Amino acid sequence: MAEVVWGLATSHVPSIGAAMDNHKTADPYWKPLFDGYAPAREWMAAHRPDVAVIIYNDHANAVDLDLVPTFAIGTAARYEVADEGWGRRPVPPVVGAPELSEHLVRELMDEEFDIATFHELDVDHGLTVPLSVYCPEPGDAWPCAVVPVLVNVIQYPQPTAARCYALGKAMGRAIRSFPQDVRVAVFGTGGMSHQLAGARAGLINSEFDRMFLRAIEAEPAKLAALSREDYIREAGTEGIELIMWLVMRGALSEHITRVHDTYHVPASNTAAALALFEEVRA
Ligand code: DHB
Ligand code: FE
Repeated sequence: MAEVVWGLATSHVPSIGAAMDNHKTADPYWKPLFDGYAPAREWMAAHRPDVAVIIYNDHANAVDLDLVPTFAIGTAARYEVADEGWGRRPVPPVVGAPELSEHLVRELMDEEFDIATFHELDVDHGLTVPLSVYCPEPGDAWPCAVVPVLVNVIQYPQPTAARCYALGKAMGRAIRSFPQDVRVAVFGTGGMSHQLAGARAGLINSEFDRMFLRAIEAEPAKLAALSREDYIREAGTEGIELIMWLVMRGALSEHITRVHDTYHVPASNTAAALALFEEVRA
């Protein structure tokens, strides 16, 4: 049977990918962020999963704003890297895990989550930057297959944090009921506090971020109880991406340990963080 082996929460800021693509990670601006990643990257390189289930949002690159599904899963055998206006990132295409995708769609529908499916999908920075955080030098191919899971965090009304946490729990059950022996890592992407436009553009709320970074491990229900307005007020209009961390957390069990975390302000306009949790075997 499949098992969930670890969970990674990470910001997905596009310029973190651009810093890697343009060999700027040792520059004074970027070095502290990448130094913070190092212990997690070393651990993950020694604990490679077969498949990464990546919870992310498209930023109006592949999905038109006229039709934004609340929850969707990619079921393709391969996903191209999206061209977001600067050409495609020089990273490998993403290989899918269609059988696991189809299984997750079926199981989640049976648990009454109404999941849209993408049979074709270009994946934007929301997915490729977390892959680069996980694996900075993939060569010709990423070291795992990927199931993209999309959450609407960009158009009102976004799903509640509680619904995202419940989706994560159902996702964990669905992964564990997949009959093949695959090791699965779950990524929750986005956050932490940031706001890209409007009167509060540039907002950072380190107090809220630090609280969230602590509570995601042992008090996720407390974070799931916050409203979308709470998230936007405290973390900014784009800080609501943090609800995707709750999908990841829901897919893990109660028995986890924190392998590593790091928090750095700023990466572009964002308070960037990484938190890595290992599933402790009974
Ligand atoms: C930035 C952060 C994001 O999460 C995103 O999707 C786009 C841009 C930023 O800080 O620049
Ligand atoms: Fe984003």
